[in-house]
Amino acid sequence: MQGPHSPAPPVDVQPASWRDLSSIRELEKLCFGRDAWPWIDTLAALTFPQTVRLKAVSDEFVVGFIFGDQRRLKRTGWIASIGVHPDYRRRGIGRTLLVACEDLLGMPRVRLSLRGSNDAALRLYQQAGYVRIDTWKRYYRDGEDAIIMEKVR
Ligand SMILES: CC(C)(COP(=O)(O)OP(=O)(O)OC[C@H]1O[C@@H](n2cnc3c(N)ncnc32)[C@H](O)[C@@H]1OP(=O)(O)O)[C@@H](O)C(=O)NCCC(=O)NCCS
Repeated sequence: MQGPHSPAPPVDVQPASWRDLSSIRELEKLCFGRDAWPWIDTLAALTFPQTVRLKAVSDEFVVGFIFGDQRRLKRTGWIASIGVHPDYRRRGIGRTLLVACEDLLGMPRVRLSLRGSNDAALRLYQQAGYVRIDTWKRYYRDGEDAIIMEKVR
């Protein structure tokens, strides 16, 4: 049992697989609500080749995940999705997942998209060295614009 002054249990970043489908689905719903992917897309991200999939595990619970795609012809990696359980945020888990995914993608540049209103993600990406390169107008179903960011490694 954790006392009030016990240190938080360590978080381990590990490869994810189809066996993590239900835990990651739960996390996606918590993190994205109406924007959560259909389960078939999550299953695809957990099984397709040229995809990096990682999970953050604490005390045997999956508390974070990240998916990245390799677009080898364009020498570009894309961060497709990242989420951290609300109770585990601001502990560096998102940053750790992002760096690990970039390393495994192994591409000279990495891109991603985010909602214009997603300040937490914007700050995470800025702090990690991403810069804004484009806006995709009305990209999301509710009409919000997407910001496109890029990191050159
Ligand atoms: C975005 C998200 C993945 C960040 O995960 P996290 O584990 O909390 O991030 P970290 O603790 O690694 O934060 C790293 C840095 O990002 C910035 N940051 C992260 N969350 C922030 C917040 N809520 N407000 C301001 N800055 C924030 C800070 O600079 C932070 O460094 P610091 O804590 O030393 O100041 C998490 O908030 C989340 O799952 N959000 C919902 C899903 C989502 O929006 N995903 C991104 C879609 S594009």
